[in-house]
Amino acid sequence: MAIERTLSIIKPDAVGKNVIGEIYSRFEKAGLSIVAAKMVQLDNDSAGGFYAEHKERGFFNDLIAFMTSGPVMVQVLEGEGAVAKNRELMGATNPAEADAGTIRADFAKSIDANAVHGSDSTESAAREVAYFFSDAEICPRG
Ligand code: PPS
Repeated sequence: MAIERTLSIIKPDAVGKNVIGEIYSRFEKAGLSIVAAKMVQLDNDSAGGFYAEHKERGFFNDLIAFMTSGPVMVQVLEGEGAVAKNRELMGATNPAEADAGTIRADFAKSIDANAVHGSDSTESAAREVAYFFSDAEICPRG
């Protein structure tokens, strides 16, 4: 399987629960390496730009209000099949439908406060990684 990169965001609810380390541990145990990371307080412009593809959806304003409600931890994960592997670790968007043992089943309480974001394809991963990180900020493991 190809080595990929994917963008992961630990959302304000999970940062507030102090489970960044626990979530990082799940990434690492699954064979993903953290090759870039930063804590960010998003504002309406930066969150709106990131989620621009959802602008017409009914939940857009709620999503932006939530994502700007506190700091987020943003990281680039690298490893074999990183995009799909991270989505597996995350579980379904709605935590009520997430498989037991996934991050959302364990740490999220609702579809609008669902603990983590992960890129859904290698194409969106490339765009999302570039949204937050310059090439110089990414440290590949080789
Ligand atoms: S997915 O997995 O990206 O296809 O999920 P999708 O249903 O398209 O949702 C896109 C993002 O919007 C968030 N979302 C919501 N936020 C607030 N309120 C409601 N009702 C809601 N429904 C979906 C969802 O968590 C996705 O966020 P990200 O950060 O992409 O996971």
